[in-house]
Amino acid sequence: MNRLIIFDTTLRDGEQSPGASMTREEKIRVARQLEKMRVDVIEAGFAAASPGDFEAISAVAKAIRESTVCSLARANEQDIERAGEAILPAEKKRIHTFIATSPIHMEKKLCMTPDQVLAQAVKAIGWARRHTDDVEFSAEDAGRSDLDFLCRIFEAVIKAGATTLNVPDTVGYTLPQPFAETLRRLIERVPNADKVIWSVHCHNDLGLAVANSLAAVLAGARQVECTINGLGERAGNASLEEVVMAVKTRADIFPVKTHVDATQIVPASKLVSQITGYPVQPNKAIVGANAFAHEAGIHQDGVLKHRETYEIMRAEDVGWSHNKLVLGKHSGRNAFKSRLAELGIELPSEEALNAAFSRFKALADKKHEIFDEDLQALISDEALTPAAEHYRLDYSRVFSETGETPRAQVILSVGGEEQKAEAEGSGPVDAAFKAIEHIARSAAQLLLYSVNAITTGTDAQGEVTVRLSRDGRIVNGQGADTDIVIASVKAYLNALNKLHSSEDKLDPQKGSV
Ligand code: KIV
Ligand code: ZN
Repeated sequence: MNRLIIFDTTLRDGEQSPGASMTREEKIRVARQLEKMRVDVIEAGFAAASPGDFEAISAVAKAIRESTVCSLARANEQDIERAGEAILPAEKKRIHTFIATSPIHMEKKLCMTPDQVLAQAVKAIGWARRHTDDVEFSAEDAGRSDLDFLCRIFEAVIKAGATTLNVPDTVGYTLPQPFAETLRRLIERVPNADKVIWSVHCHNDLGLAVANSLAAVLAGARQVECTINGLGERAGNASLEEVVMAVKTRADIFPVKTHVDATQIVPASKLVSQITGYPVQPNKAIVGANAFAHEAGIHQDGVLKHRETYEIMRAEDVGWSHNKLVLGKHSGRNAFKSRLAELGIELPSEEALNAAFSRFKALADKKHEIFDEDLQALISDEALTPAAEHYRLDYSRVFSETGETPRAQVILSVGGEEQKAEAEGSGPVDAAFKAIEHIARSAAQLLLYSVNAITTGTDAQGEVTVRLSRDGRIVNGQGADTDIVIASVKAYLNALNKLHSSEDKLDPQKGSV
């Protein structure tokens, strides 16, 4: 029992961050990285949310062999059937079903009495057990639920066959000491508590998700639900990297060990940030750019004399490495392919590999040194699924001169048909976006535009994120290029393509049972 199970929900709760929705290929890439990191359980999505979610979970279930693949399901038969079908191809499968247990959620959201909620939870476990023996039950909003009722419902679901009991602080309301007390009392009072794994799932509304999760571990929880970079609904979930490294670094306090290969943490963080367009703040613990940078002279001096004067972890142990030159203009297709494989990137076909290799050659002509980060940016969604490209850039030209209004011309292929436009703007990017809009007439609202240099040097690729919203749907587009206007145009078109192909999704926390 000294094993701490790491349950990653980046692909489900993480994806509930506005604009962080991922395509199937992106989910597979993240899942592969999580598997490489030796995460125990990957919650790949909420199968009933949409056909796209179902397909993505099913694809992850096919691709992953080592980690358990899990789908979320509300406590109703249809959701659970969808979840069961979606995880069918997995080697190790779990269904995670939930129902709200707090007075406010039961009365105002579910319009059910506590007895009805309990009966529904018991039925849900029975439906889930038809698909797998590995069934997790969550008492949604447990952080604000009555302890006696939690004891009753947990006792009932254990009898019905649940194997993991999750205690979510859905609204990020609890504090470490009372939350630890809740866990301790549940484990003491619920009959057969020792036959199941107790789990926690904390949200970060008060900035306490990691602290609450760790307090619960000290009180007996043996599974923590978390996400890469702390992504997730509202202020996010407990961050995987912080939980894993706290337990590892303070092995003197925590009586548990995880199976996580911590050297895969930084690559996972970069991948998730690149795919979702959620940047990592520089001072973020473990994965922020400054997490291991010593600025003060006294600190630098101390670290040079003896590293442990100011460092409690080693940067290389969590996967930080200096930008390594990996490939160049003369690298061949095989070197390219094997480096992608080392990065956990598997292209779906020879055609996709050839397309990516030509893009690599084009990049290597402009930029002499190609780093891992460049390769990751190169393997964008469009390279993996060319068919999904409704809008494609064929040509662009910008005019930007001191004292003159910037102008841009673009030629796009729209559903295979060539269309041209020209526009003026306050800068070259603005002009290019306006020219695209003359063609696309998307009526989308631009919520975010950000540029980030992928590596150092003025020949670095600029990585651009564009977040668009239309009819309540939010998508992120990414583009990378050594020319930041082109990178911006690619990101804008990538977002338009996602809007073009995205579908309505159910939000698990908004629906009824
Ligand atoms: O925050 C929450 O309560 C959840 C549950 C579905 C576990 O995400
Ligand atoms: Zn949650």
